[in-house]
Amino acid sequence: MPVFPDLAQRTLSEGSAPLTPDFRPGYHIAPPTGWMNDPNGVVYFRGEYHVFYQHHPFDTSWGPMYWGHAKSRDLVHWQHLPIALQPGDEFDRHGCFSGSAVVCGDSLALLYTGHTWLGEVGDERSIRQVQCLASSDDGVHFVKHGAVIETAPDAAIMHFRDPKVWRDGEHWYLIAGARLGDVPLLPLYRSSDLRTWEFLAYASRGGEGDGYMWECPDLFRLDGQDVLLYSPQGMQPDGFERLNRFHTGYRVGRLDSDWRFTGGPFIELDNGHDFYAAQTLLAADGRRLLWAWLDMWESPMPSKAQHWCGMLGLPRELQLHEGRLHSYPARELTALRRAPLLVDDALCWDGSGSQPLAGLSGDRLEIELQLDVAGCRDGRLGIALRCSADGQEQTLLYYDAHLQRLVLDRSRSGAGVSGQRSVALAPVREPLLLRVFLDRSSIEVFAADGSFSLSSRIYPQPDSLGLALFGSSGGRVAVHQAWQLSSGWV
Ligand code: FRU
Repeated sequence: MPVFPDLAQRTLSEGSAPLTPDFRPGYHIAPPTGWMNDPNGVVYFRGEYHVFYQHHPFDTSWGPMYWGHAKSRDLVHWQHLPIALQPGDEFDRHGCFSGSAVVCGDSLALLYTGHTWLGEVGDERSIRQVQCLASSDDGVHFVKHGAVIETAPDAAIMHFRDPKVWRDGEHWYLIAGARLGDVPLLPLYRSSDLRTWEFLAYASRGGEGDGYMWECPDLFRLDGQDVLLYSPQGMQPDGFERLNRFHTGYRVGRLDSDWRFTGGPFIELDNGHDFYAAQTLLAADGRRLLWAWLDMWESPMPSKAQHWCGMLGLPRELQLHEGRLHSYPARELTALRRAPLLVDDALCWDGSGSQPLAGLSGDRLEIELQLDVAGCRDGRLGIALRCSADGQEQTLLYYDAHLQRLVLDRSRSGAGVSGQRSVALAPVREPLLLRVFLDRSSIEVFAADGSFSLSSRIYPQPDSLGLALFGSSGGRVAVHQAWQLSSGWV
């Protein structure tokens, strides 16, 4: 039998993709294969949470959009379901773009944007976007009903997408993102049957400095106020603010009887590198839950070498305190905890230099951390995570005494990524309590009081698992407790 060792060897060394570490999350929602972006349609149906998402199953690049689908009984353990929507009909020829899901009587209804390229594929100057309806009796198989809003309120609007639907009293309401020239608009509609929609008003429109398009709007009542959540494109960075390509944030105010929203300034909801297109759900127990895409447009995605990319952030609970949204990891997530790795105040560091945490390592961890920054007069005080044995790779989370900010630094966080994101802490007298969630290619940091969060992707080597506390002058850092987290997939 002929053998071709040269050919075989050449194929291995030249032809195959280099082996890369596995970045797949253990307890976050990610696609089985291919590309993922926005969460769309987060809904509680017949005792289960359903999360749909923008998906391109055939490729790790964005393309004709499908709706991927996963469900969970407890917000912790997820199961993939068959693809819910695929493009190709006359009204969604080139994509089933973002939208939302609602329970209507006995069925589950999806409102989404049918997207068509009118010119070249990818030419955003010539597109048609219409709002479409699909429904399902079993929560798994969906029947399309075509376009239910075929034209935007102004014929000159071409970008018109991401319908978010909710019920209030006798009516359904729908808010969408739109763009007239470079002016962002949020048209608001009303319906009694999800099929016939009456345009009410533009709930909001952008002004100077507000960007050119607002994607994925959501409008909900929380603790007696109205919250307008959206993802603007085209806002400029300002100091430490708005450093990402695009942003997700909110305004707190009031939707008046003319259907116009007035309120406070736009506030970014998360201060990390990767947080976009968030959407909320009103849970059966009254909690307002939120999911976001834990990535950013045009960011490095090294997991593409493993034939998948994109993941969603942890589900969060929202509360409103003094005009600002506070976010907390959904309380159900404590079910992921295995036996605690540390007992109270097991690890404290108030020296200078670095202290490796010998008994603590891992790539799927929850860590409760306390930073006593009041005494930190100079330099930095914090924790290094996902450290390699030689110290070359590490993700840093620290208080910077000079800036008086909490910094997430991924300059040495592995493949592709870089840069710092931070939040202002001044003036800080109380100890700062943090909850940190590590998954294989992500870090999410929550202030224990909910007042800020930082969410970023990181791509360390699989064996970069170490942790260390570090400081330079004064202050104290303590790990109160830590847990290995179990798998979130059934
Ligand atoms: C937001 C977004 C939406 C659009 C979808 C397309 O990330 O651009 O506006 O519907 O992604 O995948």
